Amino acid sequence: MEIVRVKTVSPYDVLIGNDLTAEAVSRVSRSCKKAVLLWDEAVYSGYVAELGNALEKDGKEVMAISLEGGENAKTIESYAKITKIICEFNLTRSDMIFGIGGGTVMDLAGFIASTYKRGVELVQMPTTLLAACDASVGGKTALNLGEEKNIIGSFYQPSMVVIDTRFIDALSDEVFSEGCAEIIKTGILGDASMIDMLEARPLLENRSDSVYLSQIIKRCIEIKAGIVQSDERDNGPRNILNLGHTLGHAIEAESNYKIHHGQAVAMGLVLITRISENKGIAETGMLGRLINILTSHGLEWRCPYNINVLAGHVERDKKVRGGNLTLIIPEKFGFCVFLKVKVSEIRKWLTE
Ligand code: GLY
Repeated sequence: MEIVRVKTVSPYDVLIGNDLTAEAVSRVSRSCKKAVLLWDEAVYSGYVAELGNALEKDGKEVMAISLEGGENAKTIESYAKITKIICEFNLTRSDMIFGIGGGTVMDLAGFIASTYKRGVELVQMPTTLLAACDASVGGKTALNLGEEKNIIGSFYQPSMVVIDTRFIDALSDEVFSEGCAEIIKTGILGDASMIDMLEARPLLENRSDSVYLSQIIKRCIEIKAGIVQSDERDNGPRNILNLGHTLGHAIEAESNYKIHHGQAVAMGLVLITRISENKGIAETGMLGRLINILTSHGLEWRCPYNINVLAGHVERDKKVRGGNLTLIIPEKFGFCVFLKVKVSEIRKWLTE
């Protein structure tokens, strides 16, 4: 088992390994008497039952609530319905909520844990590679409001994150690839040697090598943890995690969310790297290498939309502050620059 310590204001461990049920249960605090397992019905129920049984054996009263994952899980209605069930179960402030699923379940479980009785303990158990390398760590929680994605939310760090690679082993190649996009993004912004590694040994074709998989997940989380620790509430440096996401979110929105997040990020990374190379910021050859890495990870890199169409979405990005948007521009593998652009000039900057 690998462990990464996230040194936020309330620090916590991220456990990475195969079959972590017993380890996770042994780390649940003695004062926890009840546990709610909020789980995506699409994940293998056997592992959820195994966790429930282990918690019960340890003397906890357990309630499992299954839900349909995806963006529909993050509605106000779903939040209210689940919170009411938790209320009826009489979960107290010393008890615990487990979020078990992909990014949308992490966002919802986090928001419920942060607001129910003004905060109960939270264990995040991501079941997708994407959620393991991004949403489960860093304490961002979110709900959608109609078409507005992640417009409601809080910063609320979990007490523990458990990445049991049995869930990740069960993913289809397509869903696994989505997580690779986030891993490649992390390499671009923080670790050129990880890019070299992924180039030499693509994770997709080596996904059954559990040591390699855990090593890559661990490195990603170390990089993300370092950034989150320096800017827990996303007021500056944490913005770097947005690399490829401004255009990625625009692609998702333009596709009516038919292009999924990881795939959209892959396209967003290519667009911003191409723009950067064209402007003489990114070193020559970076784009070609990036395209090869994405391709070897089963990711489509060609964006079906015109940059002018995407610019319209970027102008309405929710990260706009004081009329400016900070773009993250790749310069070379392992290094990006921040560029503040006036919203009124974004279209020109992206298209010229
Ligand atoms: N997903 C980006 C962040 O945690 O800031």
